[in-house]
Amino acid sequence: MTERRHLPRTRILGTGRCVPDRVLTNADLEARVDTSDEWIRTRTGIRERRIAPPGMDTCDLCEGAARRALEMAGLRPTDLDLVIVATVTPALGFPATACLLQDRLGISGQMAFDLSAGCTGFLYALTVADQFIRTGAARHALVIGAEILSRILDWEDRTTCVLFGDGAGAAVLGPAEEPGQGILAARMEADGSYWPLLHMPGGGSRHPASPESLRERLHCVKMQGNEVFRVAVRTLHRIAEEVLETAGCSGNDLDWFVPHQANRRIIDAVRLRLHVPEDKVYVNLDRYGNTSAASVPIALDEMVRSGLLKPNDLVLLDAFGAGFTYGAVLIRW
Ligand code: ACO
Repeated sequence: MTERRHLPRTRILGTGRCVPDRVLTNADLEARVDTSDEWIRTRTGIRERRIAPPGMDTCDLCEGAARRALEMAGLRPTDLDLVIVATVTPALGFPATACLLQDRLGISGQMAFDLSAGCTGFLYALTVADQFIRTGAARHALVIGAEILSRILDWEDRTTCVLFGDGAGAAVLGPAEEPGQGILAARMEADGSYWPLLHMPGGGSRHPASPESLRERLHCVKMQGNEVFRVAVRTLHRIAEEVLETAGCSGNDLDWFVPHQANRRIIDAVRLRLHVPEDKVYVNLDRYGNTSAASVPIALDEMVRSGLLKPNDLVLLDAFGAGFTYGAVLIRW
């Protein structure tokens, strides 16, 4: 793990979010599958989620979030040196949604690529962009987590379709000017042996699209939720502790804990192990469900725009997702 004491740090200069208007409530889901509002709320904490209308794609959400983040940062698209879109639901098989976004923003010449790290995607992208900025290889980076998961859900599978939602969150990064400000410590890991517990089998070279793959619903999310739950709690606690220790901090020092918004019970279990008081944890999964790579940047943008997150606050981000991938980032805002 790298400690950032002797290097210039990266900070978030602006945030933005874009979520579809359409709300799908737990009551709406009761009409589609054998579930109940009570089951969904008590097992997950989710009350409703946003669903993209036909015709809207991941690039549309990226553009909305990106323009807002750039505006907050006081920068133009041409100021960007790097564009990373973290997603498992890109607009096209290829090219990268990051390149489609460049075209939308009317820019070219930057490095632009997509990053696939499931729900940890935004944190992975943040960490990659941080390396470019700290070394001076890039001055300003646009990092986005964006998903339209509703297009890869099996709407007859009650064990998955109730959990996820659509949306995008963006951050514009640049060098920190104040000493002590910015990304203080970060650690990203993966353990590929867990891939079967959360994946989408169809559409790649292993199971290309065919009448059989459609019939067998291979183009939909497959998850063993209770196994994911167990590993997520254990792993998130361990990696968050490591990041806090690297910076010489503990859970008590945090002004905010902004976890990946997958399940209220996972968030509570990790928070308790880290000794973070409940009022320092930001939770919005009741309104959005699990938006995968978008969940942390959507939360950050809500916090910044509502004035909850203030300069100099110490903020811990964490995330866990398909791969399995997992990570934590500590920021002095
Ligand atoms: N409505 C009603 N009953 C349901 C539903 C539903 N939507 N889904 C499952 N059930 C039933 C199951 O069939 C099972 O019934 P049975 O006992 O008769 O077999 C029962 O509820 C319990 O099922 P479990 O899967 O054991 O329930 P659990 O308490 O583990 O909760 C959940 C399931 C919410 C998926 C939980 O395991 C979880 O959140 N896991 C983590 C998943 C996650 O966070 N994934 C994303 C992380 S990575 C990423 O974000 C991509």
